[in-house]
Amino acid sequence: MHASAPIIPWIGGKRRLADRLIPLFPPHECYVELFCGGAALYFLRPVPAPVEIINDVNGELTNLYRVVQHHLEEFMRQFKWALSSRQVFKWLQDTKPATLTDIQRAARFYYLQQHAFSGRVESQSFGTATTAPAINLLRIEETLSAAHLRLANGTTVENLPWAECLARYDRPHTFFYADPPYWQTEGYGVPFPFEEYQALASAMRTCKGKMMVSINDRPEIREAFVGLVMHDLEITYAVGVERAGRQASRELVITNWDTALLGGLF
Ligand SMILES: C[S@@+](CC[C@H](N)C(=O)[O-])C[C@H]1O[C@@H](n2cnc3c(N)ncnc32)[C@H](O)[C@@H]1O
Repeated sequence: MHASAPIIPWIGGKRRLADRLIPLFPPHECYVELFCGGAALYFLRPVPAPVEIINDVNGELTNLYRVVQHHLEEFMRQFKWALSSRQVFKWLQDTKPATLTDIQRAARFYYLQQHAFSGRVESQSFGTATTAPAINLLRIEETLSAAHLRLANGTTVENLPWAECLARYDRPHTFFYADPPYWQTEGYGVPFPFEEYQALASAMRTCKGKMMVSINDRPEIREAFVGLVMHDLEITYAVGVERAGRQASRELVITNWDTALLGGLF
């Protein structure tokens, strides 16, 4: 059983791959998620590492984690009278984060993310929930308290471009989990050109620590990461709210260490 779970829906989140990826982690002292997003593997791994860092370039997201880490009670108070409402969603979308306090900013971001169609991060629209309430006040308290305990356990929350984060924490005892935006798919409001994948591949070849990348399986991606250890796995994603839309996609897992055991696990 997992002690904590991700606190927001996030497009491209790895919740459904957690049970397949976590057993592949090599021994490590320091765990770094370079592109944490909803940080599914961080929250779901059953045993935390002694030192943990979650990093993302999205400043609203890292502010949310810091607020849940340090100001949980005040954050939860923001939702005491929360209604799931298309109008509130629109008002919050129109509110400039710079006019809010950190706690209000985190609450705005959390509300929008909870109600956005398909966990989208950019071009959000109000997602209509018909099978479960979008926000369940009793569950919020439970999930956020578990996340608070997890984050308050000394986790460092960084808001850096991935390459800077890697440079800061690169040691032989570090394990980097890198889950960059999928090549040519959904957006996170920041560009991620092909050169970024090439730079990631080059960092994997030269860094001192161990690194695992998960990415969509495309010929040009295989070419960029050539020479590293590659394994493919198939996963079925639900697309949108209509049950009809289930789509199989091929996921590539790339490591910079020789994982002799992997063959049997995929
Ligand atoms: C596929 S998502 C990560 C999903 C995450 N593993 C989860 O389980 O929710 C990719 C993330 O990379 C972040 N990102 C995009 N460009 C970045 C960069 N240059 N450096 C760090 N993070 C970046 C995005 O904000 C997004 O949260």
